[in-house]
Amino acid sequence: MKKRKLIYQVYPTAIGSLRDITDKIPLIAELQPDYIWLSPIFQSPWVDGGYDVSDYCKIDPRFGNMADFNRLVTTAKKHNIGILMDLVLNHTSSEHPWFKKSERHDPWYKDYYVWLDKPLNWDSFFGGPAFDYNSNRGKYYLHLYDRTQPDLNFSNPRVVKEFKDIIKFWTDHGVVGFRVDSANVLAEDALKSGILPRISGFFNYYQTKETVAILEKLLSSSKIFTIAEPIGGEFMSHARFRELTRKAFDAAFNVGTLDVADTFLSIKDRFYPLNYRKWFRKLAKWSQEEKFSLAIESHDTPRAPSRFNADPKVLAMMQFLLPSNFPCIYQGQEIGTPNANLSNNINDYPGVQSRMIYRRLRKEGKTKAQAMKQVKLSSRDNARQPIDWGEYMLQEGDEDSVLLFYRKLTQLWRTDPVLINGNLKVKKTSRKGIFDFERRYGKEKYFIHLDFCGRTKSYCKNSKGETIIGCR
Ligand code: GLC
Repeated sequence: MKKRKLIYQVYPTAIGSLRDITDKIPLIAELQPDYIWLSPIFQSPWVDGGYDVSDYCKIDPRFGNMADFNRLVTTAKKHNIGILMDLVLNHTSSEHPWFKKSERHDPWYKDYYVWLDKPLNWDSFFGGPAFDYNSNRGKYYLHLYDRTQPDLNFSNPRVVKEFKDIIKFWTDHGVVGFRVDSANVLAEDALKSGILPRISGFFNYYQTKETVAILEKLLSSSKIFTIAEPIGGEFMSHARFRELTRKAFDAAFNVGTLDVADTFLSIKDRFYPLNYRKWFRKLAKWSQEEKFSLAIESHDTPRAPSRFNADPKVLAMMQFLLPSNFPCIYQGQEIGTPNANLSNNINDYPGVQSRMIYRRLRKEGKTKAQAMKQVKLSSRDNARQPIDWGEYMLQEGDEDSVLLFYRKLTQLWRTDPVLINGNLKVKKTSRKGIFDFERRYGKEKYFIHLDFCGRTKSYCKNSKGETIIGCR
């Protein structure tokens, strides 16, 4: 049988401390995930929600301590769930001692980051220039994200060795693998070529051969499970995806399929109106990549039922009835959590990304109210709100609930031979939200009809016309 794994993502602050997360493991286990991917719990000043790490081997006190972590790993193991940590390789926080020493010209650390005498005119993914002057060092440093997230220099073998040690540290603590953040932008060819790209220069620092080689060296152990987050939305081609997953990764996401290219990663990306047909076609194609991880939500996107204006059960059917060897459920997705009712005041937003969208829209001439409307709709802060456990418990006792529907679907995904092995044939994709496809295996054929706009029932039927699963 193929290697297939179900992943469940936890964004820690939305659940609480490591103890709170541990308490919820029996509930999460009802979905039968193989892994829980924990977004960063490392020590961090929290400018970018934990993706700005100041110590990779310390747990941020807001979550507890190592004893709590060990308890979480043991509890998960009892439920046959392995823990995946989030490995943020591309950059650290500027509070990291490596950066502090590098800016002070410490001989061991001076080349840990990308320092240039003259800045290139690149834009960062979070808006504004990607190079900033550091007066301590008297040079410019690269930051593809926020200015407090300096990019590491992976052509320095010492940096690679640091991460080897970090990986060992966590596997010694029982971690079984990693989700690798921004996996395809580690090495920047353009630095060498001297090309001066603006954001269109994205291609110049996006997944170079050098990046792939570094990752293969670090991650291709067969003992750990690795899943990549290659950034780049629409730019991710199938060829690049295969190159990246050839050795280094067991699986990978594609940000572009996750959010219909309304990513925050490039100035060109817009929160444009939903084009169902385009989205379905894209998903159908990608779902046939053996190592593709099909996700419809993450900590970087708004909630799917709001974003796609769809019944959570129909979204769930799409995710689990398309071929999907590594589906990933984002916490709270299984109870159909919609977008939160976020504040109308931009100063209440913790995330750098929401503020960036706001500034950009204001610069483009939008009024405060127009800009806030857009931020509320598209902010990833929507997905970072506390889980409604009261609702969760209510759904546990309701046969018709989204939660029990998800549990049924994950059980089917795990056991049904047609869903495990069946080929995909797309029958219809429409702009009005109809997605029809077949899964064929041996003599059996399932017909799946999904209606995202709720005009007709959505179902999966076998060749005898019996309903395997369906919803209104
Ligand atoms: C990844 C993370 C995102 C973070 C960014 C910078 O894309 O998923 O949350 O802001 O990397 O680390």
